[in-house]
Amino acid sequence: MQAVPGEGPRSARLFFVGQAPGAMEDQTGRPFAGRAGQFLNQMLAEIGLERGDIFVTSVAKHFPPDNRLPRKDEVEACLPFLIRQIQVVDPEIVVLMGKVAEQVRDHSVLAGRKVLVTVHPAAAMRFPAMAERMRKDFRKLRQMLGS
Ligand code: URA
Repeated sequence: MQAVPGEGPRSARLFFVGQAPGAMEDQTGRPFAGRAGQFLNQMLAEIGLERGDIFVTSVAKHFPPDNRLPRKDEVEACLPFLIRQIQVVDPEIVVLMGKVAEQVRDHSVLAGRKVLVTVHPAAAMRFPAMAERMRKDFRKLRQMLGS
């Protein structure tokens, strides 16, 4: 097992947060390297963005064994890293994907930033209604970005 800290430009205007690395991310050390990541890339492409435009990470920085939800103590242990990442990148817009990420929406590091809460791409790729919700949210994101 290895840490999957996240990746993207230091100057990214957009900061995406997922739940926890999966098996593929654990193998590669890179966030959203598996199927959910491909789905995310596709959603980004639909609004004219690519992975190189965004910073992307997850709340938990390690693969939870058996792909379970990260536990509360794991989330708490990883949270300071996420908060520091947001402070350093200082993005204009933070996109929280799924219920685990949504838990940080009231954190003070997000005060003064635009926050978009959407579904997790792993859910959106399984359920068409969720994919539609994600598409709609991403169109809103495009508007938030301007141009
Ligand atoms: N799901 C996440 O939340 N994060 C990843 O890095 C991959 C899948």
